[in-house]
Amino acid sequence: MQLRCFDPDCAAKLDLHSPALACPKCDGLLEVDVEFPSVDASALKTLWSERRMSRDPRDISGVWRYREFLPAYPANEIVTIGEGNTPLVRGHRTASFAGVANLQFKHLGWNPTGCFKDLGMTVGMTEAVHTGAKVVACASTGNTAASLAAYAARAGLVGRVYLPAGQVSLNKLAQALDFGAEIVEIEGSFDDALNTLLEKTNEGIYFLNSINPFRIEGQKTTMFELLDQLDWKVPDYLVVPGGNLGNSAAFGKAFDELLRYGFIDKLPRMIVVQAAGANPFAQLWRDGADELSPVTEPETVATAIRIGNPRSWKKSLRGVRHTGGQVLDVTDEEIAAAKAVIGRDGIGCEPASAATLAGIRKLRVSNQIPEGASIVAILTGHALKDTNFIIKSQQRELAHAH
Ligand code: F0G
Repeated sequence: MQLRCFDPDCAAKLDLHSPALACPKCDGLLEVDVEFPSVDASALKTLWSERRMSRDPRDISGVWRYREFLPAYPANEIVTIGEGNTPLVRGHRTASFAGVANLQFKHLGWNPTGCFKDLGMTVGMTEAVHTGAKVVACASTGNTAASLAAYAARAGLVGRVYLPAGQVSLNKLAQALDFGAEIVEIEGSFDDALNTLLEKTNEGIYFLNSINPFRIEGQKTTMFELLDQLDWKVPDYLVVPGGNLGNSAAFGKAFDELLRYGFIDKLPRMIVVQAAGANPFAQLWRDGADELSPVTEPETVATAIRIGNPRSWKKSLRGVRHTGGQVLDVTDEEIAAAKAVIGRDGIGCEPASAATLAGIRKLRVSNQIPEGASIVAILTGHALKDTNFIIKSQQRELAHAH
């Protein structure tokens, strides 16, 4: 395996463990180039199933179980806290709320720190250890920070997180503190925090935002695990919230590899849902534009996806186009209503995750999704990630009732 520039016109190749953050030739995004002469998909499906009976920490991890498609590391370097293995839960009230018959949630909030970020962090942190890093850092709306903090603590590295001051849920901040991370608060948005961090390239810091291609590799395994759980039967639609667009980029890469190497014979349509106040990708899609126009002051109650200048949009767009999917946005009111119904289904999630259900409802109402379609929605974060949001919504409901 090696690193390659994502831009097909450049396609520069780099050593797999090169510390570059971007393509040295054209400044484009980098990705891990997974090339095999041939793959026995059915033998691997059996092997991956059998690993569920094993006590090897790499087999217990829902990421490293699929390690044939990940960069290789010595077993003792792997930083794992048993991530992955997240359930697929059928929605009932949620399905009737959205007007669809066949809706399941893959709940990534069941990960060690309550969010999908752990799936990428286990690979990113392992790579950091492999390259001899001492300090790892990210900018974050909260969840990446909590995840980085936990995995850095496991690896014995210094974790440093750049957060937009006053805009991060206290639950996520508390996690980062609990795991011993250094907190740097930046005035402005997530985008300002990321810019500040990216200026520090000469300070010996290992960067763990989702422009890091190793994080994308880990997040890619979400789709390996999902399809494994579905006995490799591909749903019609896969719906995911979009912020910095790393997760949808990772899913697009997974679909490409799974199709290319014969694990599946068709693709689910990938639907990316943004919040209306932080919707540059949805705008690009609506306008059919070639370049993303950042939103300068992103605003949404779903603070996890309050991002105006998503870095991985080109990768995400490739996945959306390749799968015949689409991008849309939903309002904060639609997110809050959907979140409440997910709670009533006994599932629960944080606000950003509920954008999925709001998006499905919107597409169904406008008849863009057939009622009988099989749909999997990705819930990205646990309900306890933003308890303030829940308490405030309940207080509002009580005030209306009186
Ligand atoms: N859902 C949750 C709960 C998130 O925390 C994020 C991103 C997303 C969805 C969007 O994923 O960026 O890959 O499109 N949170 C980042 C963070 C930005 O810093 O925790 P994306």
